[in-house]
Amino acid sequence: MDAMEQALDQLARMWAEFGEALGEAASTQQLEALRVRFLGKKGELTGILRGMGALPADLRPLMGARANEVRTDMESALESRRLDLADQETRLRMMQERLDVTLPGCPTPMGCRHPLTQVIDEICGIFMGMGYAIAEGPEVEYDRYNFEMLNIPAGHPSRDTQDTFYIGETVLLRTQTSPVQVRVMETTPPPIRIVCPGRVYRSDAIDATHSAIFHQIEGLVVDEGVTMGDLIGSLRLFAKGLFGAGTEIRVRPHHFPFTEPSAEVDVSCWTCGGSGCRTCKGEGWIEVLGAGMVHPKVLAGCGIDSERYSGFAFGIGIERTAMARFGIDDMRHLYDNDMRFLAQFR
Ligand code: PHE
Repeated sequence: MDAMEQALDQLARMWAEFGEALGEAASTQQLEALRVRFLGKKGELTGILRGMGALPADLRPLMGARANEVRTDMESALESRRLDLADQETRLRMMQERLDVTLPGCPTPMGCRHPLTQVIDEICGIFMGMGYAIAEGPEVEYDRYNFEMLNIPAGHPSRDTQDTFYIGETVLLRTQTSPVQVRVMETTPPPIRIVCPGRVYRSDAIDATHSAIFHQIEGLVVDEGVTMGDLIGSLRLFAKGLFGAGTEIRVRPHHFPFTEPSAEVDVSCWTCGGSGCRTCKGEGWIEVLGAGMVHPKVLAGCGIDSERYSGFAFGIGIERTAMARFGIDDMRHLYDNDMRFLAQFR
C-alpha cells in the first residue's frame, strides 16, 4: 500500500468509528465530547492532517481536499444529530416539569399558641403594662430557696401540702414560683417589680383538677412605703384586665409562711357577674390567687432592710385560670396534646 492509500484508509477508518460513536451518543453533552474527540484541536482528524507531511508534495492537495470533505460531513452529521437530541431533551424536560394546576394543594395547617401559653402571655402583658419586668428561675431548685428562705423550715406543716420530687437531700423540683422572689431579692437592690411565670411540681395524684406538673406566675414588688393598699389596687387592675372591666375582687384572710398578712383573692364570676351560676358553683366568686405582704423575715434573709423597705407578693395558678377562662372541665386536656382540643384555641 502506498502512502496515499494508507492515508485514505486511515481517514475511512476514522469515518467509520465516527459513525458508530455518533449512533451511540445519547445526549447533546455526549455529542459535544464527540466533536472534541474528532474535530478538536487535538482531535483525530487534526492528527491525520498533521501526518500529511509524510506524503509526496503532489498528493497533498488531493488528500487535503478529501480531509476537508470529511470534516464538512462530520460537522453536518453532528449538527443534525444535535438538533434531534436537543429536541428530545426539551420534550423530556417539558414532560418532567409539567405542572398540573388542577391538582389539590397541600395545605399547611395553621398552629396556635397553647391555651396555657396564651394565658401566661396575657397575664405577663398586663403586668408589663404596669411596669413589671419578667424574671425566671430554675425548676430544679435548692430546698433553701423553695422552702428555708421563704420561712418554711424543715418540719413546717406546709411542706406536707407541697410534697414534691427530691433530686437529692437539698435539691428538689420547685413546688412554687416563690423561690424566684428570693433569688431576685438576693441579687437586686429595691425597687423591685417583677413577675415570674414558670412550671412547678407537686407530688399530687392526677385528676380533673390536679396535676403533678402545673404553672404559676409569681409577682413581687419591693420598695419604700409599699402597702397592702398597693397590692389590692394592683390586683384589681389585673383582674379587670384579664376578666373584663366589670370584674371585682374579694380579699379573704389566709396564711402563707412567707407573707404577713396573707390573703386569698377571688374575682367576681365572669359568667354571672356575682349572682351565682355553674361556672362559680353558685358562689358568685372564683379563687384565682394567693397574696400578701412579704414577711420581714424573708426580706431580712435576702439582705433587704425590712425597716426601710416593704413589699407585696402574689402567686397566680395558670391552669385554674385557663380552665375558668376557656370553660375547660378537665385539667388533663391541657397536657394531652390532642389536636381536636388544641385546635379550638385558634
Ligand atoms: N406560692 C404560693 C402557693 O403556691 C402562692 C403565693 C405566692 C402566696 C406569693 C403568696 C405570695 O401557694
